[in-house]
Amino acid sequence: MTATLETTAQSTVDVAVELTGVRKVFGHGSSAVVALDGVDLKVEPGEFVCLLGASGCGKSTLLNIVAGLDGATSGELRLTTSRPAVMFQEPALMPWLTAQRNVELALRFAGVGRPARKRRALELLELVRLGDVADKRPHELSGGMRQRVALARALASTTVSADGAPALLLMDEPFAALDAITRDVLQSELVRVWETTNTAIIFVTHDVREAVRLGQRVVLLSSRPGRVVREWDVTDSSDEVLDEINTELREVISGHAS
Ligand SMILES: Nc1ncnc2c1ncn2[C@@H]1O[C@H](COP(=O)(O)OP(=O)(O)OP(=O)(O)O)[C@@H](O)[C@H]1O
Ligand SMILES: [Mg+2]
Repeated sequence: MTATLETTAQSTVDVAVELTGVRKVFGHGSSAVVALDGVDLKVEPGEFVCLLGASGCGKSTLLNIVAGLDGATSGELRLTTSRPAVMFQEPALMPWLTAQRNVELALRFAGVGRPARKRRALELLELVRLGDVADKRPHELSGGMRQRVALARALASTTVSADGAPALLLMDEPFAALDAITRDVLQSELVRVWETTNTAIIFVTHDVREAVRLGQRVVLLSSRPGRVVREWDVTDSSDEVLDEINTELREVISGHAS
């Protein structure tokens, strides 16, 4: 099977990411697992899309393909953004570096010079309301604060090498390990940051309420092999939409279990 994977860099674009007929198979022969099959998904520059689906339906696989961490078996990926930034469930900070240095590191990898790095890292920490703990190390911060440092670091890698190309942030259940109150605070932070940075976001979650609260669009994937089964515009979402998504998700999950 041949993969026709294309990555294009353009400055004037109507799309941040476009996946067409993306298929991903892990392994070979009788032990092969078809994780994704025929995924079509388009995300516009600056759009906030939430991805929902049963456990094991291929959400992380999809995100990894868009991030360039894994390749599709076949299909087409069109990416018009600068290198996507990724944020996972665990903040994965360097424990020996301060919050500021952790953010600076992402800027250093992107080739930003020292004085600009320091300035930008502080700006980003202020954006996530951590300007006053910039010199603390991860163990001195709470779990929610560490996730905010990870968010600042992810934003650092989305905004630097931009060159006029739209930025893209990929988030794989970034708040799943946090308590409800901290999660609530970080959801607000994320929306505020998204509004000020115009970064396109693909956000994976199991939580329908979170998806509806954060996203402009909610995309539901089928059970394995994952493919887009339904989408909702949730910019002005009501309780009915929430119920509808919950019902469909439940159907997808029970289909998976049977
Ligand atoms: N590196 C790999 N090698 C083999 N199989 C894999 C690999 N990565 C994922 N899979 C399989 O692909 C399928 C999709 O996995 P994936 O992690 O994308 O699901 P997910 O939707 O993110 O699940 P969850 O909601 O539990 O995080 C699963 O059946 C998984 O076992
Ligand atoms: Mg996953």
